[in-house]
Amino acid sequence: MTSKEQSRAASRTTAEASKEQAAVASVDLVKSGMTLGLGTGSTATLIVREIGRRVRDGRLRDVRGVPTSKAIGHVAREEGIPLVSLEDVPQVDLTLDGADEVDPAWNLIKGGGGSLLREKIVAQATRVQVIVIDESKLVSRLGERMPLPIEVVPFGWSTHLEFLRSLGGEPRLRRTDAGTPFVTDEGNFTLDLGFVEDRGLTQLADPLRLDALLCTRAGVIDTGLFLGMTSVLVIGRTAGVEILRPEREP
Ligand code: A5P
Repeated sequence: MTSKEQSRAASRTTAEASKEQAAVASVDLVKSGMTLGLGTGSTATLIVREIGRRVRDGRLRDVRGVPTSKAIGHVAREEGIPLVSLEDVPQVDLTLDGADEVDPAWNLIKGGGGSLLREKIVAQATRVQVIVIDESKLVSRLGERMPLPIEVVPFGWSTHLEFLRSLGGEPRLRRTDAGTPFVTDEGNFTLDLGFVEDRGLTQLADPLRLDALLCTRAGVIDTGLFLGMTSVLVIGRTAGVEILRPEREP
C-alpha cells in the first residue's frame, strides 16, 4: 500500500468509527412507546441494530418502526422491532436517518442509498427528524462531494438528460452492478446529477429554487434535497459525538 492509500484507509476507518459512535448516541433520543421512522443506509442500519439491542435488553419498550425502505424493514424484522405502516399511524414521533451531505443551514442531500422518496414521505410525517452523520458529510455548499439524486418515472427518463445539462449538470442513470437500471422500491429510476464547479454548482447555492424547478417537471417524482426538515443533528467527530438542536426546540 502506498502512503496515500494508507492515509485514505486510515481516514475511512476514522469515519466509520465516528459514524458508529454517532449512531449509538442518537438512539439515546428514543423513548419507550415511540413510533419511530427508520431511515435507510449504513448509518441507519447501525441505528436499527442499536434499537434492537435496547429492545432485547429491556432499555426500550413498546417502540414500533415505520421503515423507509424494504432493506431497512428487513433489518428491523431481524432485530425483532415491530413494524407499522403510515396508514396505521397518524404521525411518527421521531425518525433517525443518515445523509450524504449536510450544509451549514442543515439542508441535506440524501438518496445515495436509493430511498429518497420513502425517506422524504416519512420525514414529512415526522415530528422530530434526527440526522446522524460523521463529520466528513459536512459541506459548505450542497453538491460539493455528491451528485444530487433525482427519482424519475421510467417512462421517458432519457428526456430529462438534456434539460439537466442545460442547468449546468452532468446527469447519469444509476445502474446496478449488473449494468441494468437501478429500480427504487417505488419502481422508479434514479438520475444522479453532478454539478461542475463554475458551471452549475451555483445552482445549488439556491437549493429551494432548484428543487422547485426540478419538481415541476413531468416525470420527476422528487429530489434528494431535504430542505428545512432537520430537527436534530448528531455528528460523530474524532473528538466525540456532538448533538445539536436549533434554538427553536421542535
Ligand atoms: C438512502 O437513500 C440515503 O438517503 C442515506 O440516508 C444516505 O445515503 C446516507 O447513507 P449512509 O448512512 O450509508 O452514508
